[in-house]
Amino acid sequence: MSSVQASRGTRDILKPEIYYWQKLESVARRILTHAVYTEIRTPAFESTELFARGIGEATDIVGKEMYSFIDRGDRSLTLRPEGTAGVVRALIEHKLYAQADVQKLWYTGAMFRYERPQAGRQRQFHQLGVEVLGSADPRADAEVIAIASDFLSELGLTELVVDLNSVGNAEDRLAYRQALVDYFTPYADRLDPDSFDRLSRNPLRILDSKHPQTQEIVQAAPSILDYLSPTSQQHFEQVKSLLTDLGIAFRIDPRLVRGLDYYTHTAFEIKSSQLGAQAAVCGGGCYDRLVAELGGPDTPAVGWAIGLERLVLLLQKLDEVKPPALDFYIISRGEQAEPKSLLVAQNIRRAGFRTELDLSGAKFDKQIKRAVTAGARYAVIIGDTEAASGNFQLKDLASGQQQSVTLLELISIASLT
Ligand code: HAM
Repeated sequence: MSSVQASRGTRDILKPEIYYWQKLESVARRILTHAVYTEIRTPAFESTELFARGIGEATDIVGKEMYSFIDRGDRSLTLRPEGTAGVVRALIEHKLYAQADVQKLWYTGAMFRYERPQAGRQRQFHQLGVEVLGSADPRADAEVIAIASDFLSELGLTELVVDLNSVGNAEDRLAYRQALVDYFTPYADRLDPDSFDRLSRNPLRILDSKHPQTQEIVQAAPSILDYLSPTSQQHFEQVKSLLTDLGIAFRIDPRLVRGLDYYTHTAFEIKSSQLGAQAAVCGGGCYDRLVAELGGPDTPAVGWAIGLERLVLLLQKLDEVKPPALDFYIISRGEQAEPKSLLVAQNIRRAGFRTELDLSGAKFDKQIKRAVTAGARYAVIIGDTEAASGNFQLKDLASGQQQSVTLLELISIASLT
């Protein structure tokens, strides 16, 4: 790999794509602020053990995909493959649970997984996530799903579907796991090698195999929904009924198993039919045991994360997102004019106008052409004569009209139009 090429699975986000990112970030901030979720920023790397214990040793993420390294102090560290474990670590470390019974948090940032890159799948990618810690109320599950749904529809994404399942509690899953082992064992020699391996390590993950022959066998596998205890069933029923009341359409998918081991009860994904193989835009669910497993008090929790690259791919299929309109384009040429132009630009900016300062020193007509291409409302033209007199040429680029104005007049004209 050349040193002037981004590493495989990473990429730069340039103009105009960056406008989509800025749009979704501002919509997310607004929606999460209205729902009174607090932003949390956790480190990009944590101890390897946190992820191994949190996400689960038998998962693909921990087994195959982590960027782990030994630092100069001989510690094993890992670039975060997801955000939940770090948030839970912060909750325990800072005893956030003592400040309020329920913590509602959100985060965004880069995550790292050593996966085979393809459209919508990268090695460095970005997530927006929420976590509600301290409530076992099914309303918490429905609230986080509703927030994701509002966020996505506010962005104009309407073709998405919510797939919903319950993976029950630890005891339910133990019984279900045994049922799966009993079911798959007679087919062991027909399973793909990965699924064969999962039969002893993590049989639930076989349900997620993309291998056609394994998929066929999976069709008749037992359903987790038949193994839910009455309490788990009741929780699931309440979540479904709350979502129905909210008008959020969902499909029940008893084969929905998530790639991380910490889930209990509700598990869900929001998918798009326009993303090919990487269809999941959002994934989440409850994780009632994780805080206790990592050394904190018993704290039920629920959350989700949205993959922002996938979201941007979908947004790019909709309307073009443009940068905010440009009010002024400052054009100058000459020894006195050029330093003056910066002063003028700063004054107009302080008055609240979006103002570009041309630094090229090119001829006036060339700079004017650029002002037109940039889509500015006005060009302010400053030559040495204008710099000396303090009267600038203000050109309305739509009408072509030009007048001589002072800085104050220029700002008041722009404010009135
Ligand atoms: P996850 O399903 O592993 O869940 O990831 C959430 C989302 O991140 C996926 O649906 C996908 O959109 C995006 N994503 C994952 N891997 C990649 C990748 N290699 N390239 C691009 N996008 C990707 C979690 O990470 C959990 N922490 C979610 C959660 C929060 N559960 C409870 N709270």
